Amino acid sequence: MNILITGGAGFIGSHTYVVLKEHGYTPIIVDDFSNSSESVIGQLAKICPGEVLYLQANVNDPATYDSLFNQYKIDGVIHFAASKAVGESVENPLKYYRNNVAATVLLLEKMKEYQINNLVFSSSCTVYGQPEQLPVTENSPVQKAMSPYGNTKQICEEIISDTVAASKDFKAISLRYFNPVGAHPSALIGELPLGTPANLIPFLTQSVAGLRGPLNIYGTDYPTPDGTAIRDYIHVCDLAEAHVKALSHLVSKKQESYYDFFNIGTGEGSSVLQVIQAFEKATGKKVDYVTQPRRTGDITSVYAATGKSWEVLGWKTTRNLEESLKDAWAWQEALT
Ligand code: UD1
Repeated sequence: MNILITGGAGFIGSHTYVVLKEHGYTPIIVDDFSNSSESVIGQLAKICPGEVLYLQANVNDPATYDSLFNQYKIDGVIHFAASKAVGESVENPLKYYRNNVAATVLLLEKMKEYQINNLVFSSSCTVYGQPEQLPVTENSPVQKAMSPYGNTKQICEEIISDTVAASKDFKAISLRYFNPVGAHPSALIGELPLGTPANLIPFLTQSVAGLRGPLNIYGTDYPTPDGTAIRDYIHVCDLAEAHVKALSHLVSKKQESYYDFFNIGTGEGSSVLQVIQAFEKATGKKVDYVTQPRRTGDITSVYAATGKSWEVLGWKTTRNLEESLKDAWAWQEALT
């Protein structure tokens, strides 16, 4: 089966390429390398035998899809390509509505035109905001987004749901990711943040590698056991496997139209201080940190209820936090 991966050279896309290959699919990458590196293609060739099929092109351009869909008989699409910096989305919202929303509309139009009926969409637990109950289930209400980035994920989920509702045979799944971390155990692919990382783990590993100053802990007065904020950190290889399970679930549905959404997390919440402790235990390295006030827009605590993704997709995580942090550190060491 030929599967198009938009944004396939990115952090999650590249790891999903590997899992698709391992399961006998033929993944085809489209990426403009605007927030990734073409060198990822060569790294993928080292991990997976065989030619890496890819096209350097923009997902906002209708000609991109005409070219791909005429060249390959595509059976399904996993749509990762998107802009993802929360702060930038506040400063430049139209970039986010174009790259995330308009591009998704175009992709859907082109999928309909070429009768490609299976879509897995990258969504985010950001759609829940600060949930009232934890762990957060898929039944929790979607809350008003705290940033244009978060809003694009909500809007895209709705657009996809409406598209399915108006169709007899279009099938789609949104995967609501919690916090993806780690790297492939080969240390050949991983996260490649441009500039100063805004996310915790890449900043932490760069700090320990001596590329940054001490880690800033944003907020020590949260109503949590140790005062720091709690998230659900999931190994990117576990997250990649969820896409393949979602895809096979869609394909098993034959001709019906279908839409559903799933939490993709470990079910375990970890505070920033617990992450630091786990990193030190996993790697034997010391983390220098300083405490700072809370970061604007951050919530106190979120972690996933994972029952639905297990019951319906047959997916759950197999890697723990220490393994994620060990792999993140091996990747950082390979880079430096
Ligand atoms: C962030 C985004 C979220 C997006 C996700 C993508 C915000 C408000 N949210 O999630 O929408 O889907 O990235 O991965 O930007 N922290 C520190 N020091 C740091 C960096 C982070 O203490 O240098 C803390 C944060 O306050 C937070 C936790 O670590 O409590 C995780 O932060 P981060 O990795 O940025 O992820 P989120 O904020 O959960």
